[in-house]
Amino acid sequence: MPDCNNPVVMDGKGRRLRSAAWFEAPGEAGMAHRAYLKAEGISQRALSNRPIIGIANSWSEFVNCNLHFRGLAEAVKRGVLQAGGLPLEFPTISLGEVLMKPTTMLYRNLMAMDVEESIRSYPMDAVVLLVGCDKTIPAALMGAASVDLPTIVVTAGPAQAGFFRGREISAGTDVWRYTDDYRAGRMSEAEWDELEASLVPSVGTCSEMGTASTMSALTEVLGLALPGSAALPAVDARRAAGAEAAGRRAVEIAREDLRPSSLLSAEAFDNAITALGALGGSTNAIVHLLALAGRVGVPLSLGRFDELFRGTPMIVNVRPSGEHLFEDVERAGGVPAVIKELLPLLHGDAPTVTGRSLAENVAAANVHDRDVIASLGRPLRARSAIGVLHGSLAPSGAVIKRSAATSALEKHSGLAVVFDDIDDLARRVDDPELEITPDSVMVLKNGGPKGAPGMPEWGHLPIPAKLLRAGVTDMVRISDARMSGTAFGTVVLHVTPESAVGGPLGLVENGDRIELDVEAGKMDLKVPDGELQARRARFKPPSPKYRRGYGALYLERVLQADQGCDFDFLRKLPDEEIQQQALGLVGGAINV
Ligand code: FES
Repeated sequence: MPDCNNPVVMDGKGRRLRSAAWFEAPGEAGMAHRAYLKAEGISQRALSNRPIIGIANSWSEFVNCNLHFRGLAEAVKRGVLQAGGLPLEFPTISLGEVLMKPTTMLYRNLMAMDVEESIRSYPMDAVVLLVGCDKTIPAALMGAASVDLPTIVVTAGPAQAGFFRGREISAGTDVWRYTDDYRAGRMSEAEWDELEASLVPSVGTCSEMGTASTMSALTEVLGLALPGSAALPAVDARRAAGAEAAGRRAVEIAREDLRPSSLLSAEAFDNAITALGALGGSTNAIVHLLALAGRVGVPLSLGRFDELFRGTPMIVNVRPSGEHLFEDVERAGGVPAVIKELLPLLHGDAPTVTGRSLAENVAAANVHDRDVIASLGRPLRARSAIGVLHGSLAPSGAVIKRSAATSALEKHSGLAVVFDDIDDLARRVDDPELEITPDSVMVLKNGGPKGAPGMPEWGHLPIPAKLLRAGVTDMVRISDARMSGTAFGTVVLHVTPESAVGGPLGLVENGDRIELDVEAGKMDLKVPDGELQARRARFKPPSPKYRRGYGALYLERVLQADQGCDFDFLRKLPDEEIQQQALGLVGGAINV
């Protein structure tokens, strides 16, 4: 007979831990809950008086970036056991940026729902999120924030750098460059094959300041990961030691009842936005932060991003905005050194998962290499690594990564060359007959949340081969799609409302004049109102690409980019009490 008369598991505030509702429930329900765990060989002693720590593992053989998570999960378990908890690992959907089609962004909300409901419905007192590849980080954060159980994040860390012909390469940024060389005929088939073989030499996330590196760093800034964990290389032994420390800390936050809702304040989001600008980070982080803020009821708009970006110098010198890789940030002092440098611009008193403030966490940090982490006094770029645009072409906003754009093109007036969708682009972009000049503005429609659907990373439109061969390296490109955080160019993204719902982008025709002024935050379609009205009357939305299943749900409920592309029904309701208890949790029935 299980010892259900053991002292009830208490948290540090004298309250029963959540898991006690399962395992110390009276009668047959409590007995069944214990018995079904004992079926795994877990003893009563292992179960009694211990916080249960869930480990949400996004390991998958389809996701090379997260392939070391089995080992990291074992390290987390060591930490949990050391601190007197019981670790229980569970799988989540895993979103592999390169292999998953049509785009991982289509499934970010599905993973968020998976993580949310798994945490809510199982008997855990805290959760450790094992996440890495781009969308797995925001998805898990969104899900965990909606449940609001004590949460700590362990990220994957960047992959080792590859070398091609003696040059250190990154898996994203350098591929974009070499792809242009290959398409322009400047690279042989043999060189292309050699590049492929050397591109990604280890597990871990993309090695530059792509979305995974950006979101890992911002998770530290938001106070949800241990300080110094983000930039440690995936294969570095200290990453496993850090995972062990996260396991220990997970037991403590379960007892302290330290929840995401006490960390994810408006000040924490301000800190993350400032850090995003200072990192020259991925524009995708804007969408993810907007979605996360919606999950915890923090009002956040593109206007706040603009305001903070304009006052934030870029100080981190990592590709595609700079020269180095994310692992070099680790050698230069890590994300704590970046945060310490930024403290005059941050809310340093923001609480974090360590139990200390953001400023206290980084008090001992130092910058060891000013070429990688510059100072506020001598930044790499004075301000606005990312620009926010509004105007008649984007009434609800658009963004551009200025730190990776061509300055001379930031103020530009040109005639539109329109591609109706990604297939049209693929068919015509390299057509020698395409009427296009270096001054043209390339426009892609139907790349947004509903139009694509899933807002894929199509925004980095390829420059037509005939212009590449003529030596053109950048052009103004505009779409309602996203762009890889590793990519670069004068690329306007996230145009909202998107074309498929009748936004002005959907009304653009070949030869229309478009005026861009990034410093002024403006982007306008210079077409007379009467003509636009006539086009609007003729507009027909594309037919839906899904009629059943998750895709149909996505099309029906996804929000626009300025609201983070979350589902409307997943945002926190204004009067919502976050559900702590699984429904029907301690009823008498054994639900088997
Ligand atoms: Fe996984 Fe880049 S493909 S982080």
